[in-house]
Amino acid sequence: MTPTPVTVQIKVNGIVQPRTVEPRTTLVDFLRDHLGLTGTHVGCEHGICGACSVLLDGDPVRACCMFAVQADGRAVTTVEGLAPQRGCLSKIQDAFCETHALQCGYCTPGMLVACHALVEKNPAPDEAQIRDAIGGNLCRCTGYQQIVDAVKLATRPGYEVKATPAAQARQQAKQVGHTHFRDGTHA
Ligand code: FES
Ligand code: FES
Repeated sequence: MTPTPVTVQIKVNGIVQPRTVEPRTTLVDFLRDHLGLTGTHVGCEHGICGACSVLLDGDPVRACCMFAVQADGRAVTTVEGLAPQRGCLSKIQDAFCETHALQCGYCTPGMLVACHALVEKNPAPDEAQIRDAIGGNLCRCTGYQQIVDAVKLATRPGYEVKATPAAQARQQAKQVGHTHFRDGTHA
C-alpha cells in the first residue's frame, strides 16, 4: 500500500517552505531533493559522521536520522543559511579559510553547523569546549586541529572577516560543495 503523502511547512533559512512529502522522506532528502539545498551532505546515513548536520530551532541535529514530517512547523538552518547574507561569509566560515580547516570539504558543512551552534551559545569557548562541540562530526582529512584553530580565531576579540566579497562568494560556494559558476569558472 502506498503511504499517503503529507503536507509540511518547514521554515528553512528563514523562509517557510510548504511541500508535500512521503512520510518516509528524511529531513536531509527533503533539504537536498525538494529544496535543492545540497550544501548539507550525506555520508553514513545512520547518525555516525555528522556530515548531514543542520540546526533545528538552533540546536544541531542529524538530518539523516529524522523525517521531514518531524520538522513540520519548526525552523531549520542549513550551511547555506549560516552567512549573514548571500555572497558573504560568517566569521567562522572566514576563519575556516584562514586556518585551512577544510581539505576535501565533505565534513565541512556539518562542522560549520556544529561550530556555529557552539559560538551562538558560548561566544568564547575554550579548546576543550570546541573539541566537545565537534566531537560528533568525523573528518578524515584535517586531523581536527585546524578546525579547532578556526573556532579559536573566529572567537578572538576583534576578529573581522578578511575575504573580499568576490573571494567570499567563491569560498562560500566551496564550503557548500558548489564549485561551478555561471560564468564558467570554477572555485
Ligand atoms: S549522513 Fe547523517 S550522520 Fe552521517
Ligand atoms: S575536510 Fe575531508 S573529511 Fe573533513
